Amino acid sequence: MCGIVGYIGNSQCFPVLIKGLHRLEYRGYDSAGVAILNQNNELNLYKTRGKVADLENFCQSKEIAGSIGIAHTRWATHGEPNDINAHPHMSADGNIAIVHNGTIENYNVLKQALTKHGCEFKSETDTEVLVQLIQYVKETNNCTLIEAVTEALSQVVGAYAIAVVDRDTPDTIIAARKSSPLVIGIGEDATYLASDATPIIDYTDKVVYLNDDEIAIIKKNEPLRVITSDNEPSNIDIKTLKLSVSQLEKGGYPHFMLKEIFEQTSTIEDSIRGRVVNNHIQLSGVNENSEKFASADRIIIVACGTSWHAGLIGKRLLQDIARVPVEVEYASEFRYSNPVITSRDIVIAISQSGETADTLAAISLAKEKGAFVYGICNVVGSSIARATDSGTYIHVGPEIGVASTKAFTGQVTVLTMLALAIGQLRKTVTPDTLVRVTSAIEMLPALIKETLGLNKAIEKLSNTYTYVHNFLYLGRGYNYPSALEGALKLKEISYIHAEGYPAAEMKHGPIALIDHELPTVVIAPMDELHDKIISNIQQVKARGGSVIAIVTKGDKAIKEIADHVLEIPKIPECLSPIIVSIPLQLLAYHIAVKKGCNVDMPRNLAKSVTVE
Ligand code: F6R
Repeated sequence: MCGIVGYIGNSQCFPVLIKGLHRLEYRGYDSAGVAILNQNNELNLYKTRGKVADLENFCQSKEIAGSIGIAHTRWATHGEPNDINAHPHMSADGNIAIVHNGTIENYNVLKQALTKHGCEFKSETDTEVLVQLIQYVKETNNCTLIEAVTEALSQVVGAYAIAVVDRDTPDTIIAARKSSPLVIGIGEDATYLASDATPIIDYTDKVVYLNDDEIAIIKKNEPLRVITSDNEPSNIDIKTLKLSVSQLEKGGYPHFMLKEIFEQTSTIEDSIRGRVVNNHIQLSGVNENSEKFASADRIIIVACGTSWHAGLIGKRLLQDIARVPVEVEYASEFRYSNPVITSRDIVIAISQSGETADTLAAISLAKEKGAFVYGICNVVGSSIARATDSGTYIHVGPEIGVASTKAFTGQVTVLTMLALAIGQLRKTVTPDTLVRVTSAIEMLPALIKETLGLNKAIEKLSNTYTYVHNFLYLGRGYNYPSALEGALKLKEISYIHAEGYPAAEMKHGPIALIDHELPTVVIAPMDELHDKIISNIQQVKARGGSVIAIVTKGDKAIKEIADHVLEIPKIPECLSPIIVSIPLQLLAYHIAVKKGCNVDMPRNLAKSVTVE
């Protein structure tokens, strides 16, 4: 949550900062701000409630010249989203400005102590406490900015990625991280910093990922220096980005979400590439750790949100194909549940962003208890990718729409391959199943393309349901998690209340809700439980509810009873969640667009949840 950008070099920083903030807006869009140090050593600070475009408007007639600056787009944690709580925050003497992503957990204690020393605070934020603390340390210890930042951070409990500028050292930005991401871009005549690499890629592909407890000293026209919190020099490991600018643009689509839905034909191809070979699965992370996977007693999957839904599908896949007992936990619950974990357990952490705070905390707990931790991430070089012992990237490219779409299908595809790879090792998968499922995996891009052909029909259908207040989603077996995911997609971007249920559970309570005002989406591809789900549809119809059914092409039985059917191609049951997710994503998208919602930036949400 929150995105930070910094620039120090020989050009004007404002355009770089604003463009960078636009790229990071998926991380939060409650307010935005910049602080720029100019040639006259003035520190100009502009910030406003609203989106980055509002900040641009606000700055139109302002003094924005300067070649050193820091900027921020906020997802509010401490204090409501308003102008005052917006970042950057300034020390009381007006000399130091800071941007911060994360949460200072002991900010209240620090604030009380500083108040006793006469500090006054303008905002309700934890971040202002940090900048005041830096100023206080600098004054009382009569020390340099880097010494003051190091000392202040040693007093902080919590998570942070920060960037600090100071009028006393006008050629320097100090940056530091603990549990929140920070990437430094090394250009020819400039250095960049940002919460992820997307604001940097336009200028350089050479980056350094800062590690926890590291502090970077970024000076104009000087090589980057990184030290640890104990003031020891750190190794600087320069990586080359594999990211292209076109991946970060809408490419003619009205929204990133629609672009990302349509991209799934090619993103699934990228997820599969080199991993299905002659009807066998080759996953280097599994091959390199074959002992662990062959002998594990149990797998525990930890994740949040959509990634957790992928995890539920993963459980079915791993149990059916690899015959390993699997538990799936919300990372946020797992970390506080005093879990029983042994060194014979494998913990799989699933995360698109690779930065989710709860998932990161679950990983460190699992490691502490001796488990082998395997990551399924999208963002290469992200914190989770680095914190895990091994893993598999889903390789679906940057996902910018806040609602996760292509990452979900990439996660489920990788989980299917993982289950098959473990099944190969443990000899639980029959040659027939291996051929049948791997062949279907290779067909996925074509089947997704065919399913995307439903777009127009779904757009039309969305007119009927734009203004309903509630939706029910039902599915069974592999597609019970699809029902949860369909409901989540709808509620997060259209603000329509939606609930996902295992279809047979409906009669234990939710059936009471059904009337002519409550539409039900039933996910009913041809599978083992097809007859049972037909009964569930009858139960909804008998109570006056309308039914939108997602069915396998040619399903006459459901066509006769449902109000609307969306036909998907035939696919083995274990891969059906990938295909059914396409109409579910499109339905949520078109309803939200019809309602006039901002689908790429839904209210109150952020793409990367780096706070608890
Ligand atoms: C929903 C959505 C969220 C994320 C969740 C976990 O569309 O995007 O529910 O899935 O915040 O994020 P990651 O996968 O980045 O750990």
